[in-house]
Amino acid sequence: MIHKTAGKDDEYSQGAHSDRRGFEPGTPAPGSRTMIRDSHFRAKQPFRARGVAELSARIGDVDAEIVRRLDAGTTPVRVLELGCGYGSVLLEWRQRHGERIALTGLNREEQDGDDAIVRRNGIERGLVDASDTAAMPALAFGDAADGLPFADASFDLVVSQVAWLYFGRKAHVLREIARVLDRDGVARIDADEIHPRLPPEYARLFEIWHRGRLVPLGDYLARHGGAIRRADQGEYLAFGKLEGLGDDLLPVAEIDLATIDPDWDGIKCIYRLRG
Ligand SMILES: C[S@@+](CC[C@H](N)C(=O)[O-])C[C@H]1O[C@@H](n2cnc3c(N)ncnc32)[C@H](O)[C@@H]1O
Repeated sequence: MIHKTAGKDDEYSQGAHSDRRGFEPGTPAPGSRTMIRDSHFRAKQPFRARGVAELSARIGDVDAEIVRRLDAGTTPVRVLELGCGYGSVLLEWRQRHGERIALTGLNREEQDGDDAIVRRNGIERGLVDASDTAAMPALAFGDAADGLPFADASFDLVVSQVAWLYFGRKAHVLREIARVLDRDGVARIDADEIHPRLPPEYARLFEIWHRGRLVPLGDYLARHGGAIRRADQGEYLAFGKLEGLGDDLLPVAEIDLATIDPDWDGIKCIYRLRG
């Protein structure tokens, strides 16, 4: 089984893979342990700094979900963004909701968006003042496929855009999201069942088989009480703290699509349903 992610950005049209990950010589942003060239920061910005408008196009009006919880008296509303990149979404919510929201982001590596990169992005976008001392989003780093580095039931809302495709062990990630959601928590994860920009043989990044038949992901989620929903731009996974989600899936294989073609993005995960 291949278990590896190239972790590239969604940059098909950019010939972007000449700019592979890796430690880059350059000037560290103040306070950053990550060396990042200004040109690198800027080149990656369109792919790592999408904001709430783009998120809403992918997973629906999730800000309304936050407001609904605030109106119902939940404070702070605890939000986790998987693959938060340069943190635009978290910073927009910080600006909009202040201390009534507790913000956490997960990136795979510090160079994908650490404290200094997020602050710099925020200042450039007018979301953070240079003199701003209010709490910034808490950032964590690691491969979601290895589990989420958070306690059980620690979030009201888990959201994500343009990150699911890069996750290995997708069933395990589903299980982990359910674990970190609180009892009435909600997850909305941008994830096309059929990726529109991959060849048909590989476009289904989460493939489940049962007795020789394909189980559509939407059907699988529905069995557990979740769903695939449509948004303005593509589809997203919607579910709550579901018991047993992912437990009935046996891993068969994983393919890092970049090992087939360097311009393909994503980890295809293939499972067999138990029984
Ligand atoms: C294309 S960027 C998208 C960033 C941001 N969501 C946006 O849309 O602008 C992909 C993000 O997913 C994160 N990511 C990719 N693979 C990951 C993994 N296996 N575990 C955790 N995060 C991962 C990267 O660190 C990066 O922040």
